[in-house]
Amino acid sequence: MLTVENINFSYGNVQALFEVSLEVPRNTMVCLMGRNGVGKTTLVRTIMGLCRPTSGQICFQDQDVTAKSTYQRARLGMGYAPQGRHIFPRLTVEENLQTGLPRGQSAVPESVFDYFPVLGDMKSRFGGDLSGGQQQQLSIARALVTDPEFLILDEPTEGIQPNIIQRIGEVLNRLSAEEGKTILIVEQYLAFVKTFCDRFVLMNRGRVVAADTIDGLTDGLVSDYLHV
Ligand SMILES: Nc1ncnc2c1ncn2[C@@H]1O[C@H](COP(=O)(O)OP(=O)(O)OP(=O)(O)O)[C@@H](O)[C@H]1O
Ligand SMILES: [Mg+2]
Repeated sequence: MLTVENINFSYGNVQALFEVSLEVPRNTMVCLMGRNGVGKTTLVRTIMGLCRPTSGQICFQDQDVTAKSTYQRARLGMGYAPQGRHIFPRLTVEENLQTGLPRGQSAVPESVFDYFPVLGDMKSRFGGDLSGGQQQQLSIARALVTDPEFLILDEPTEGIQPNIIQRIGEVLNRLSAEEGKTILIVEQYLAFVKTFCDRFVLMNRGRVVAADTIDGLTDGLVSDYLHV
């Protein structure tokens, strides 16, 4: 579904990504891991077209999208929930969801409320009045309103309660099993990754250092590249 080849990216003269390559096979859930500051967010922003690589190639569904805009990538079937949620506190839940739709469209698909019933109950509440876990569900739901085939989630479990983390994992499982969605998730929480993900990609200092099926995520890799 997605192939990234030899991507380099710099913030000014500080290089953040070095020859990064990875693959996300169709209908799998792949976890992007690594310590703070290794370049995970930079990489997913590059995949979404929000950061422009200095070299390398990004192919999505057999199409070279390296030069395409974020909007074009979204139209081709990419959905993105950024780190830190970025919901609008002064818009209602429903209005927040509408911001994920293309211009001229205002109907939020009912399936979103099926996946996240709490949002259906809170349609007219302000985003800023929701709990952290509810805001996170809103952020994921907003990425789903266009029914993307490929979903990128940047640390959806950051700072939220274990029961909500479990619920988010179950929703992602359903999206994968029932709708065949492909998911790339930035995640630090090992138990979550081992329960829900098929493959992992591990980064260190702007480079990919390991990529394998989830069984290949050994204690050695965890202690070398994840524990502080
Ligand atoms: N806008 C920016 N301008 C300059 N440097 C940046 C910018 N954003 C990130 N960086 C730097 O790029 C490197 C990678 O940051 P990035 O946010 O991609 O890491 P991350 O793996 O997502 O970290 P975290 O786990 O904390 O979210 C870091 O050294 C960071 O300081
Ligand atoms: Mg990050």
